[in-house]
Amino acid sequence: MNITCIGCGYVGLVVGTCLAEQGHRVLCVDSDVKKINGLKRGNLPIYEPGLGEILDRNVKEGRQSFSTSLAKGMQTGEVIFIAVGTPMSDGGKADVSAILAVAREIGQHMGGYKIVVIKSTVPVGTASRVARVIKSNQRRPRDFDVVSNPEFLREGTAVKDFLEPDRVIVGLDNPRPRLRKTMETLYRGITDTEHPLLFTNTRSAELIKYASNAMLATRVSFMNEIAGLCEEVGADVREVARGVGLDSRIGPRFLEAGVGYGGSCLPKDVKALAKIMRGHGLSPRIIEIVDRVNEEQKLLPVKKIKTLLPTLKGKKIAIWGLAFKPGTDDMREAPSLAVIKELQRAGARIQAFDPVAEARAKMLLKHVNFCNDPYRTLTGCDALIILTEWNEFRGLDKKRIKGLLKRPNVVDGRNVYDPGEMRRLGFNYLGIGRG
Ligand SMILES: NC(=O)c1ccc[n+]([C@@H]2O[C@H](COP(=O)([O-])OP(=O)(O)OC[C@H]3O[C@@H](n4cnc5c(N)ncnc54)[C@H](O)[C@@H]3O)[C@@H](O)[C@H]2O)c1
Repeated sequence: MNITCIGCGYVGLVVGTCLAEQGHRVLCVDSDVKKINGLKRGNLPIYEPGLGEILDRNVKEGRQSFSTSLAKGMQTGEVIFIAVGTPMSDGGKADVSAILAVAREIGQHMGGYKIVVIKSTVPVGTASRVARVIKSNQRRPRDFDVVSNPEFLREGTAVKDFLEPDRVIVGLDNPRPRLRKTMETLYRGITDTEHPLLFTNTRSAELIKYASNAMLATRVSFMNEIAGLCEEVGADVREVARGVGLDSRIGPRFLEAGVGYGGSCLPKDVKALAKIMRGHGLSPRIIEIVDRVNEEQKLLPVKKIKTLLPTLKGKKIAIWGLAFKPGTDDMREAPSLAVIKELQRAGARIQAFDPVAEARAKMLLKHVNFCNDPYRTLTGCDALIILTEWNEFRGLDKKRIKGLLKRPNVVDGRNVYDPGEMRRLGFNYLGIGRG
């Protein structure tokens, strides 16, 4: 099939590249000229393991190309994916202005029947709204369908997640068999009985995405609350999570206690879902608490460090890990932003290391001394705080860590190390929920 994918960010680029990998011809469109020029030269705008090799191959074999022209995308594409951002606006509402801008252009350039697929995470009812915008911007009436097809990939494992999805959700309001068939054909190489394609209406599809993210966020906040109790009663949250997760009704994933969830999805989608509920006169009680627990959890490392260093003024703190999770350079809503700003407010000086997120972090943080090596970050520091559980931190030499720190204070916000071992080695070690 000929596909156009509008938006070359963390989602759009993966979707476009993986569909090209499936044998489709894909034109990836973005309004960011620098991004498109970079992609034409073979430069990936994001860090995503495995993506670069697939993209290079598809470009070389002529299945994938890039453009800033949406008009061109409307000429070549039979199926038009929209994967532009829907960031959080004031009050937590999802900002759909980029979606609507794209819908207007799609309407203006529609020369024949198109299937418009919304990949972005959008409030319930957006597919209908996009259909209205397309229709009202058409120069001549043209037939088209709007499909809601939310994406569930995770940064860091995005390629695998797209190619081996737990499920593919396709929301349609038009019972037209041709439309259903095209969507089945599009995902034929990816879906089967183990990776099912589920047809719903557009509103259910839109809500499935928000409900999924809110459920994941709820599990994280729930375990973070349990972690607080673990510290009081002498339980270990990792043991508790393992025991709880072995219940087949619950399952083991998304039960890790830590410094809270971040990233471009969970925080904004939880807030947006609360906003949608309020908009319908409902009270989002669970979701509001999940969000509040998370906001407080993000600052827990600062509270903990104060128990080791009562005055932070003039102290030098080393931070390991800036990205919101390992495997990505995405800094959106990363707990490190809140922690570093709070430490700086209290007068501390910061030295930081992240294996891939430094460039993005530099755009968001001021007065931070960035180091290109985890050990060097520790020199002369009064404490180390770990905020992202990059695998490379696990194998580091703990005696060397202790030797480099001015004081052996460690707040491990991701429970990377074993508390018993760290204490035996002479660290003042505080994890999360490890009573
Ligand atoms: N990042 C994730 O892990 C993830 C996972 C699932 C769903 N989502 C959802 O997917 C959507 C995209 O997220 P993302 O992380 O890829 O965002 P992103 O910010 O990385 O990328 C969005 C891209 O859209 C481009 N864009 C904006 N307006 C445009 C326009 N008018 N025309 C053409 N291009 C335009 C931007 O230049 C940017 O490159 C969001 O709704 C998000 O909630 C994200």
